[in-house]
Amino acid sequence: MSVIEEIKQKIDIVDLVSEHVSLHKAGHNFKAICPFHSEKDPSFFVFPDRQSWKCFGSCSTGGDIFAFVMKKESMEFGDALRLLAERAGVTLLSSPRIEAEREEFSRLRQINLAASQFYHNFLINTREGKPIIQYLTGRGVNQACIESFQLGFSPGEWESLLTYLKERGFTEKEIIMSGLAIQRDTGGAYDRFRSRLMFPIRDSRGNTVGFGGRATDDSMPKYMNSPQTPIFDKSGILYGLDRAAPAIRKAGQAILVEGYMDAIMAHQYGSENVVATMGTSLSEKHVLSLKKLTGTIVLALDADAAGEAAVLRDSEVAKGAFGETLAPVATWRGVIQENVLAGEIKVAILPPGKDPDELIRQSTEDWKRVINEARPLVDHIFDVVCKRHDISSATGKSRIVEELKEPINQIKDPVKKLHYIQKLAGLVRVEVNSLAAIINKKEAAFMKTTRFGKAGTSRELIKPLPRLKISKPIEEFCLAMVIQLPGSADLGEEIKAEYFENSENRVIFENWLDEPDTEKLKKRLDVSLHDHFEYLSKIKFPFTDEPGKQKALKDCILRLRENYFKDLKYREGILLSNLNNKDDATKVLADGIALNVKLKELFTEKKATTRHQRGTIENGKG
Ligand code: CTP
Ligand code: MN
Repeated sequence: MSVIEEIKQKIDIVDLVSEHVSLHKAGHNFKAICPFHSEKDPSFFVFPDRQSWKCFGSCSTGGDIFAFVMKKESMEFGDALRLLAERAGVTLLSSPRIEAEREEFSRLRQINLAASQFYHNFLINTREGKPIIQYLTGRGVNQACIESFQLGFSPGEWESLLTYLKERGFTEKEIIMSGLAIQRDTGGAYDRFRSRLMFPIRDSRGNTVGFGGRATDDSMPKYMNSPQTPIFDKSGILYGLDRAAPAIRKAGQAILVEGYMDAIMAHQYGSENVVATMGTSLSEKHVLSLKKLTGTIVLALDADAAGEAAVLRDSEVAKGAFGETLAPVATWRGVIQENVLAGEIKVAILPPGKDPDELIRQSTEDWKRVINEARPLVDHIFDVVCKRHDISSATGKSRIVEELKEPINQIKDPVKKLHYIQKLAGLVRVEVNSLAAIINKKEAAFMKTTRFGKAGTSRELIKPLPRLKISKPIEEFCLAMVIQLPGSADLGEEIKAEYFENSENRVIFENWLDEPDTEKLKKRLDVSLHDHFEYLSKIKFPFTDEPGKQKALKDCILRLRENYFKDLKYREGILLSNLNNKDDATKVLADGIALNVKLKELFTEKKATTRHQRGTIENGKG
């Protein structure tokens, strides 16, 4: 039994789900208000027999225990697996390579921790540190903050830290890899940070993974950060997140600032739900890590940055807010992408010339007011764009529509989209329907560029599917063929990720859609999937020639699809017996008829291929 199956055996889906959702008995099954979208009547079901869950409502997702955790916690498969393995008490065996990697990571964290202690000690216990303490005090940073943020100072010499770390048993190679020392051309190495005020950067679990170093005089650059290392990814890390996480949960929002000092002062003055990016623009990774904690992110922007509509509009985050990242429903991040949008990104504009640090010190009231007045990013962009053009002139109107058209088009939620179309129509004073026509014109082209076209729209009949406790040979057989057979690349249209009941297969399939090359595919999979992937790559098939392969693959897809629809029908029966509303029942019945048609089609198709096959065999004999 694989670890994945072992975990599924040990964790009961009803137990797991009921920790997050209050379940009510519905015959043999359970129903609840869906935790993933807002609704009045329960359309979220848990099926103990199948160890699966499904929402029949607008989010129409479903899956096994892994899929639930992935969606609930905005996690990738590997993280969900590790979390559930721990809960189930299942030990995850790993390969020597992974062990080596883990050891390397652990050494890098140890080096960074040792360095932060060294810098902190140098700040608070030496003569050289005194003026820096004075500088910090002068800027209003108190002793408690210096301690809790472990601020430090790096000596001005070339090899102080290096010598210290070597004495602590770290090799030069490791120290260079950590980014704390730089290799000399002539051999040897020297300290990267010298005479700088040091801000240790911790990941969300509190491990020190890198540093920001501020010049204490006019030397350039003003800030220097650790380079990218295996444990330090600048574009994904948020300064202060380890300390801010509980406060973010509690406040129901995360506030994002740009500077280390801004984050520190916010915390000191009681806004503990503040984190800082590190001189990079806000990325999808940032948003994802915050999404685990809250649905609302407030960007505290200075007046200049807030006015840069183009920057905002084109930023990764804005795209997320508008829904672009959601459009390709079945990419390898799948469910997580949906979550990016579930929440709201807001913009708070600071008074001209002030950064959060100054504003907070001047008046925490003003700071709180600015944050409370934050507006949705989309509305903010509307304002900025409209201000830039003459809204009364024909040219101005045309420019405004031109600039806002694409972003509006990317809003996935149809009601929200309509809301903004109406808003824009009101602003430029054109009739809503004409504007909608102009805006929607681009939709076709946009949709075509995504691999799955309109998958996921309400008219889509095919919905995600529940998993079985036992592994399904058909899934594995089919997936193995897809992976192994060259030229199966255009199958992306014929097989849907939802056909796979088991998360491990579904995730591999989703990855394969983006990367059909076996070697590269394996690399991008989480290590927890490597064993399963190996197993799939080694499954032997009974056919020899090319037509035989293609035929087998086609049969397999047909069966997979048939299973899927049959299962959908089974669930639909359960749903029907649980509806108390006539309209809903009518809709489910209508869907059911469509399903029957689909199944009949499949049946005919299957019969045709079987007949064809018989023909071929007979011909072969003849
Ligand atoms: N930053 C950087 N490299 C620079 C300048 C800035 O990485 N050369 C990043 C740092 O993370 C910094 C943030 O951008 O914290 C904001 O810059 P700035 O406002 O200049 O820094 P503050 O943290 O506000 O520092 P201070 O108030 O001490 O000037
Ligand atoms: Mn500042």
